[in-house]
Parts: sequence; structure tokens; C-alpha cells
Amino acid sequence: MTARSLTVGLLGCGTVGSGVVRLLRDHCEELAARSGARLELGPVAVRNVARDRELDVPRLTGDPSAVVDDPDVDIVVEVMGGIEPARGLIRAALDNGKSVVTANKELVATLGAELFALAAQRGVRLEYEAAVAGGIPIIKPLRESLAGDRVRRVLGILNGTTNYILTRMTEDGMDFGAALGEAQRLGYAERDPAADIEGYDAAAKAAILASLAFDADVVAGDVYREGITRVTATDIAHARRMGYVIKLLGIAEASDGAVGVRVHPALVPVSHPLASVRESFNAVFVEGEAVGDLMFYGRGAGSLPTASAVVGDVVTVARGLLSGERPPDGAVARTRCLRPFDETTVQYYVLLDVADEPGVLAAVAAAFGGHAVSIKSVWQEGSGDSAQLLLITHAARERNVQATLHDLRVLPSVRDVASVMRVEGGEA
Ligand SMILES: NC(=O)c1ccc[n+]([C@@H]2O[C@H](COP(=O)([O-])OP(=O)(O)OC[C@H]3O[C@@H](n4cnc5c(N)ncnc54)[C@H](OP(=O)(O)O)[C@@H]3O)[C@@H](O)[C@H]2O)c1
Repeated sequence: MTARSLTVGLLGCGTVGSGVVRLLRDHCEELAARSGARLELGPVAVRNVARDRELDVPRLTGDPSAVVDDPDVDIVVEVMGGIEPARGLIRAALDNGKSVVTANKELVATLGAELFALAAQRGVRLEYEAAVAGGIPIIKPLRESLAGDRVRRVLGILNGTTNYILTRMTEDGMDFGAALGEAQRLGYAERDPAADIEGYDAAAKAAILASLAFDADVVAGDVYREGITRVTATDIAHARRMGYVIKLLGIAEASDGAVGVRVHPALVPVSHPLASVRESFNAVFVEGEAVGDLMFYGRGAGSLPTASAVVGDVVTVARGLLSGERPPDGAVARTRCLRPFDETTVQYYVLLDVADEPGVLAAVAAAFGGHAVSIKSVWQEGSGDSAQLLLITHAARERNVQATLHDLRVLPSVRDVASVMRVEGGEA
């Protein structure tokens, strides 16, 4: 039985915060044994104190400064979300010499550098395991377990809502609107789903992963982003026949001293481990120079899964406080050499509605060849008014592919460039 105790104050007690309260209460013996101190729940700030809550929270307050300015609070957990007032409150806590644990991807992906610098200046910790892929441990593995390696690429299914929608489209043949409606009915998607379906949420997480994997200064706004709203049931059916599934991927890669970060739907071979990540699950696939391929899989959201990551960080902070060791400097010297998106080199899937007449294939092939984009495979589907050509290219530069698409759009024999998607994860 440990005699020491540390007080944990919470900013927010919604989905994640209530999970944190539950774990601090239900796992208190294990947490005390693992951290070396009893972790007591201190003040908990919420917006609406009068609201009915399922949990009994003794020190609920409507005043967040009662958390960050309380001299008895040792560790502040920020699970309110958004930029302000979260940023100001985290700054105040750090200024008061308190370590902070946050799940706030939006904040870390936009203003992380400022907050890490302040934490380093004050000699305290700022931990954020839950900010990427919820309950899946990926921040500490990248920062600590893989510190001896060189990461080449990180590919992630980083958003459960879009993965759920794409799973329904793939497995039940739903179109995008119907699958989104079902995700909303089941509570996987917000009433305003833009942050998920347009890829903003995944872009924030990809920025954080890139910063960590490559010691790079990457913010959410640096990430090339396309959502899933243009993925059609036809794309999914064609992909399937060719041996691929469609996933929304966050990709961070480094080569020749430059870092590229992007979020977009991609065809992934069914044999790739990411292809089997279904429903609302998340996964992060890491390609290391020495270690080879790794995959981290699990629940990327939800009250208890996310709280598991938050409370793990609380234990890390508690151990540090008790040992008195100086926290590692989260504000490492960072490089900032971002690869312009049009220099990305990747394979493409292109779907063309074409005239059903002789010479079409030759004209299409000439458009690709004219920009040094080489075709790996081609299939013809349908006939007459519904004739289509499906092409998969070899790896080609984005800029050259865009120039090819421009030429295809004005070819008389091409009625429409119906779909264009990148292909990731090797051969099908
Ligand atoms: N939900 C997930 O599965 C998940 C997963 C990974 C990361 N995250 C991140 O975790 C954070 C919290 O998400 P959540 O889903 O738990 O949010 P949530 O359910 O909306 O809860 C937010 C909490 O913060 C309180 N709050 C909001 N603004 C406040 C203010 N100005 N002053 C005081 N309290 C305020 C709310 O008070 P009331 O209770 O009175 O409304 C509520 O308790 C976000 O950064 C999110 O991105 C969430």
C-alpha cells in the first residue's frame, strides 16, 4: 500500500473524461502499484454543471481555472477538445508547473510546437497518446520503442467513421449516402460529419505522426487532404474485382531528406494487413528500416479505449513526478523540409467512360505515354454507351498524372474521367 498520493484534475467530463473518471476509480489499486502513488480525482471542469450525469463526480465545477490554478492538482488532463479555451488552460497549467495529458489532436496538430516548448521551458511533461488512434498505443512506440530505428513510412486508417462507411459500402454494396446515414444512426458519425468524411480529423493525426516519426515540423494545414465523399459503389466494385479494397489512409513518408504527408482514399491490395481493418477499427502500419513492418490495431475512439491511453499517460507523468527525473524535452530540434504534393510518386487507378470504337485504347495510352506515365494493367468493362476503361499505372509523379488527366479530359474518345484514386501498399 503506497502512502503517496497525486491529484488529477480534469478539463472536460464528456465521452473521454467520463472514461478517465471510471478508470481512475475502477483500476485504482493497479494504478497505485504501477505509478507509485494513489491517483486521486480532483476538480473536474465541465461547461454545464447542472446537467444530469451517469457518473458521480464529487468536485464538478463550471470554472476551469479551479483546475489549472488549484495548487493541490498535480496533473491536469485536458479532454474538452477544440482550440480555445483548451490552449489557454493548458498554457496556464504548464505555467503553474503542472504536467498535462491531452487527447486533443486538433490542438496538438496545430499548436503543439508552442505547447511543447512551454512544457520544456517549465520542466514539465505534455503527453498526448490518445490524440492519435484513441486507445491504440502509437505515440510512445514511435517516440520510445522505435527510437533506435529509422521509420520510412507510416500508413494509417486513422478515422473510425470513414472506415465504417467504407466497410458498409464494400460489404453491403451501399452507396456513400446510405452508409453515412447508417453511421449517423449508430452514433459513429456526427450530425455534421465534415471533419471525418472530408479527412480533416485524419489529417490532424497524420500531421502528428509525421512530426514524431521524422522529427519534422508538420502541422495539420501542411497535409494534402481528400475525403471519401467522391468514392462510389462502382469504384469499390471495380477495386474488388482487381483485388483491392478502398480505405481512407493517412500517409507520412520521408525520403531524400523531405517529408510528405497526405490523406486520401486509396486502393489497398486485399493481401495487405490494412485491408482487413474493418468497421470502426483503426490501425497504424509502420515501415521501419531495421525492424521491417509493424501494425498497431484496435479501437481508435470510444470512452474507455481512449481513456486507457489517457490514463496510461497519467501513470507515465506520475512516475516521472515521483522519481524527480527531468522530463524529456518534447520540443526536439525539428527539420522542416516538406515535399510538395505534386512531387509525390505513387501508383494510380483511373476509370474512364469511353466511346466504344477502334483506336480508343491507343489514344488513351498515348496520353499517358506523353507524360511518362506507364500503364501497368488495363481492363475494358461494358460496351456501347457504358464502355469503360480501368487502368492501373506504375508508380508515377503526381504532377505527371495530373497533366495526363488534363489531356484525357479533352480527348474526343473519352466521355468522362469518372474516377481517379491512388494505389498504396504494393501489388494486388
Ligand atoms: N470521443 C472519442 O472517442 C475521442 C477519441 C480520441 C480523442 N478524443 C479527443 O478527446 C477530446 C474530448 O472528446 P470527447 O468526445 O470526450 O468530447 P465531449 O464528449 O464533447 O466532452 C467534452 C467535455 O468538455 C466539457 N467542455 C467543453 N467546453 C468546455 C468549456 N469551455 N469549459 C468547461 N468544460 C468544457 C464538456 O462539458 P459538458 O459535459 O458540460 O458539455 C464535456 O464534459 C477531444 O479533443 C477529442 O478530439 C476523443
